[in-house]
Amino acid sequence: MRVLVIGGGGREHALVWKINQSPKVTAVFCAPGNAGTAAIANNVPIPANQIDSLLEFAQKNKIGLTVVGPEQPLVMGIVDRFQEKGLRIFGPSARAAELEGSKAFSKNIMKKYGLPTAEYATFTSHEKAARYVDEENRPLVVKASGLAAGKGVILCRNAKESRDAVDAIMKDKSFGAAGDEVVIENFLEGQEVSVLAFTDGDTVLLMDSAQDHKAALDGDQGPNTGGMGACSPTPAFPRVMRQQVRDEIMLPLIRAMKAEGRPYRGILYAGLMLTALGPKILEFNARFGDPETQPLLVRMASDIVPLFEACIDGTLAQCNLQWKPATAVCVVMAAKGYPGFYEKGKKIAGLDAAAALPDVVVFHAGTKEDDGKVLTNGGRVLGVTATGRDTAAAATKAYAAVNKIKWDGIHYRRDIGARGKATPTKSAR
Ligand code: AMP
Ligand code: GLY
Repeated sequence: MRVLVIGGGGREHALVWKINQSPKVTAVFCAPGNAGTAAIANNVPIPANQIDSLLEFAQKNKIGLTVVGPEQPLVMGIVDRFQEKGLRIFGPSARAAELEGSKAFSKNIMKKYGLPTAEYATFTSHEKAARYVDEENRPLVVKASGLAAGKGVILCRNAKESRDAVDAIMKDKSFGAAGDEVVIENFLEGQEVSVLAFTDGDTVLLMDSAQDHKAALDGDQGPNTGGMGACSPTPAFPRVMRQQVRDEIMLPLIRAMKAEGRPYRGILYAGLMLTALGPKILEFNARFGDPETQPLLVRMASDIVPLFEACIDGTLAQCNLQWKPATAVCVVMAAKGYPGFYEKGKKIAGLDAAAALPDVVVFHAGTKEDDGKVLTNGGRVLGVTATGRDTAAAATKAYAAVNKIKWDGIHYRRDIGARGKATPTKSAR
């Protein structure tokens, strides 16, 4: 079978790497891909949101399975368009992907079906939102409802900060039309974990846990980024909590989406805060996480392709999912300045030496190949991923590989995986 992966980040390199290992697969294409996917698959120079061109490519090249990485094409309806033409594609429909595309929609579903999440209010009027926060002098989180590349969330300590956030999002339109509506919610305290699941619309098959490190700087300081590193599994998520998350969050959500006439197939990603009152949903994403996918996929022992097919065919109940008994840590190497302004086009050295170390896979994100050289081409450049018997061992190997890699203007966190044994939070049960 010929497989097309859509996207060009670290997540997509990891997907291509994993799909390549399937005996069912004869060729893998990646649109648009990066220098890492170019080395192991065929890059196709079509951006991830050009659905017409992607459709034409898939039809002409007899693609038997398309896997979508980023949220934007999902929300734009790529799955619906491919299916209309009889093509097999893994991911939710546009109406199901609204779970990520609109935070207001997502929160309203959680409320309607009694799923655990922070108390909230939604506003389309700047005046009403401003009045609300002026009266609430306590920590709040102000969120642009639409897609804002992970940046439309502002954590506020007091009424002044909340008012500034409402003004920035709704009046100054800092995140464009994503801020036409805002969600304002209670501030939750705890450890954050990512739980991803395969689903065919009825069955959910949970993956092992993962933990992102969103802040730019060590010690969770500085601005939020797309993610500066990830571990899987994370000691912050006790295994006993799995069943609770499946039965009280994932399954009820899948049933809710079905009841709403929006059956959900694909990856369901729950961003959870493990609070003193149990796990609470921060957000749902309609796709694999980046960088969580990198450590997850190096640990996944099962062939991923039959799982994609079972989600499309509605036969996931017959599948199981095996994991290697190791911990994986992914350290994101970024361009200096990210998530703000950064330069591109720097020559990267040491990639082969890093990849030659035992138990290490260097996933590319913002890279491109130029005349045999690999250049930086984005904010998050590489996801250096290693496995070990525990988080500390995996982190040691990952950082040994990081130390082999050089370019002019590197930034990475030195503390990925260092949270170690997290303070266990009291479960609500
Ligand atoms: P979201 O895109 O909604 O997951 O928000 C982005 C990030 O903001 C999350 O990963 C959390 O770190 C933080 N965050 C979001 N909602 C809350 C909340 N209610 N309380 C505390 N932190 C939050
Ligand atoms: N790592 C966060 C995300 O993929 O949204």
